[in-house]
Amino acid sequence: MDLQIIHYPHPTLRHVSKPLKRVDAELREIVRQMFELMYAAQGVGLAANQVDLPYRLFVANLKSDPDEPGEEHVFINPVIRRPKGLVEGEEGCLSIPGVYGPVKRAETVQIEAYTPSGERIEQTLEGLFARVAQHEVDHLDGVLFIDRLTPTEQKTKKDVLEEFDIVFQGRRQRGEIPPDEEIAQRWHELEALRT
Ligand code: NI
Repeated sequence: MDLQIIHYPHPTLRHVSKPLKRVDAELREIVRQMFELMYAAQGVGLAANQVDLPYRLFVANLKSDPDEPGEEHVFINPVIRRPKGLVEGEEGCLSIPGVYGPVKRAETVQIEAYTPSGERIEQTLEGLFARVAQHEVDHLDGVLFIDRLTPTEQKTKKDVLEEFDIVFQGRRQRGEIPPDEEIAQRWHELEALRT
C-alpha cells in the first residue's frame, strides 16, 4: 500500500474511524510509512485517516526526528479520559498545510490504548503531548482543529479554506480523487479486513 497524506476537504478526514481488531504485518508496514510521511512533512502526529485509512490509530513523535526512535509512539484504539485544566495553543495540521490557529485543549489527559504488539498502555499526558493526542483523537472522530476555532478565527480562515476546496474539486475533475461512493466503498473493504 502506497500511502499519501490527504488534504482538506477530503471526505476521509470526516469519517469516524472504527476500532481495530487485528494487527497484521501489513498494518505494521502502514505504521512505518505513517512515521516516514510524518517526518517528511515535519509533523509531530499523524492519524490513520490522514493517510486515507479508516482505522482508529495514530502515530506521534514530539521531536519529529527519525533519529529519535525512542520518541516514537503508536496509539491503537486510543481513548482519552480525565481531561484537566484548559490551555490555549497554536495548532496546525498536515492535512491543512499553512493554516494555523489558537485552540483550547485540556492541559492534561489520560490516554488508554494498545501498542502494535497488543500491549495495553495507560499514560498521563501533559503539555504538547496532551495537545497532540487530543488533536489526533479528534481526527479519528472526523473532527479537525479548524472546527474548534472561535467563529471570529474561523472567519479569518474562510478564504484560504475556499482555496483548498477549489484545489480539491480540480483534482477530482481530473480523476485524481475518486467520487464519494468509491471512497466509501474502499472504507468498507478496509474495515472488513481489520475492524
Ligand atoms: Ni491534524
